[in-house]
Amino acid sequence: MTLSNGLSNPISVSEQCCEIVGNKGTMREEVTGGNGAKQRLRVCIKSFGCQMNMYDTEVAEGILAHEGYEIVNGGGRVREDDERADVVLMNTCSVREHAEDRVYGRLGMLGKAKKKNPELILGLMGCMVEEHREKLFKRFPQLDFMVGTRNIKDLPLVIDEVRKRRHQVAKIRHDGISIEYTDVIKRRGTFHAWLPIMTGCDKICTYCIVPITRGREVSMPAREVYREASRLVSEGVRWITLLGQNVNSYRGGELDGKAMLFPELLEMLCEIDGLERISFTTSHPHDATEELYRVIAQNPKISRRFHLPLQSASDRMLKRMARLHTFAEYTAKIDLMCELIPDVSVTTDIIAGFSGETEEDHEATKRALEEIRFDSAFVYKYSVRQGTPASKLPDDVPADVKEKRNNELLEVQRRITRENNVKWLGRTVGVFVEARSVKDANQLVGRMDQDKKVVFSGDPFLIGTFQKVRLVDLQHETLLGTL
Ligand code: 5AD
Ligand code: SF4
Repeated sequence: MTLSNGLSNPISVSEQCCEIVGNKGTMREEVTGGNGAKQRLRVCIKSFGCQMNMYDTEVAEGILAHEGYEIVNGGGRVREDDERADVVLMNTCSVREHAEDRVYGRLGMLGKAKKKNPELILGLMGCMVEEHREKLFKRFPQLDFMVGTRNIKDLPLVIDEVRKRRHQVAKIRHDGISIEYTDVIKRRGTFHAWLPIMTGCDKICTYCIVPITRGREVSMPAREVYREASRLVSEGVRWITLLGQNVNSYRGGELDGKAMLFPELLEMLCEIDGLERISFTTSHPHDATEELYRVIAQNPKISRRFHLPLQSASDRMLKRMARLHTFAEYTAKIDLMCELIPDVSVTTDIIAGFSGETEEDHEATKRALEEIRFDSAFVYKYSVRQGTPASKLPDDVPADVKEKRNNELLEVQRRITRENNVKWLGRTVGVFVEARSVKDANQLVGRMDQDKKVVFSGDPFLIGTFQKVRLVDLQHETLLGTL
């Protein structure tokens, strides 16, 4: 495909990837100011979407920092970071229309900034690149480069290429795994780390774009996951969150003659000395099995939070969404989970206003929230994603009705979340101390095994340890405690 970039000659972007010619230097410096002092090139990455994207951003920052870039994220507000940066990169999300609209809006703003400062380099990575590919170059001539989810390590070369030739450059690979383990990663947490174990999804939920953007399921071999987890622990990490679009269908090959499925992987990771908590997200009900519940129940290191998206409680909707289960089958799974894992905290996702949803379907979902009493629920208004099976169905629930149903569900859930939290008051629980509170430096913030946030007074030297905390009060969704 041939594109015009508005800067120089049209360039060719092949299906495999564009031609990259840049040399692999490590001194990304530019002469700035009148005194001839050299300054490192500054890059700002803004992450949208899920935890997988947060992990990918940490990898991208690590790789670029290792190659000599200065990372100017965090601290400043988005606009201030952008203004300080020579390269602005957005790690994008496609799961809902709203996430894409935010990126488009920011690309517009950055396009104006680029008119004032033509040296500014703008790039995209993440799911929107996989979804729209080179079409984005046409729509946004201010865009300089794109890298696919499997090409993060190519970032330095791609940016070099843009700087040398002022071409629009895309590098988007179509096969292989989009997980990069690297010791140059710039982790946000000292004691907590994300650890992707699989990507992609083989389910075909009709509303979902993930199978298009992240492709088929690919798992990281169990040996590699174990090695990376051990490396993280050797760096002081105590708590790891395993990531994947559907971690429950993890297939990590064979190890010592044993098939490494998700329960086996969890058991193996529990054996790592110094690793004190393992959580995971996210799961499809179809693959949440009794065996998995038993492994969790037997291993106190595994988090007692289980996120299991329901989406809708109407069987008619579930069928239309191709969720592979009925509401009764879902509740049976939850009942068994609660029976086998005492104190488990179940959370969920709900879509309001999916194609064909009637008032009756919506009422069924509302009743389900009352019946199951989730600890929390993310509620999303349905938005059509082009290319998904549901994009052929009518988007027939009017926006105001979606909004109303969304709010009703949120209201019910807010009350239940509060009621569930109140039940914890008076109990003494184990809390992993994460950090000082942002609001009050004398307070510490930690997480219970159920992933509930707890704030309490304590000495900062407790950060990174487990402590027993008595829960005494509730402020919004945060539990307050005393050591
Ligand atoms: N519209 C609204 N919500 C969606 N989700 C996924 N696709 C869509 C869509 N097209 C929600 C689902 C999923 C969560 C990550 O995002 O609830 O579980
Ligand atoms: Fe999307 Fe369904 Fe796969 Fe989740 S399980 S990523 S909702 S297709």
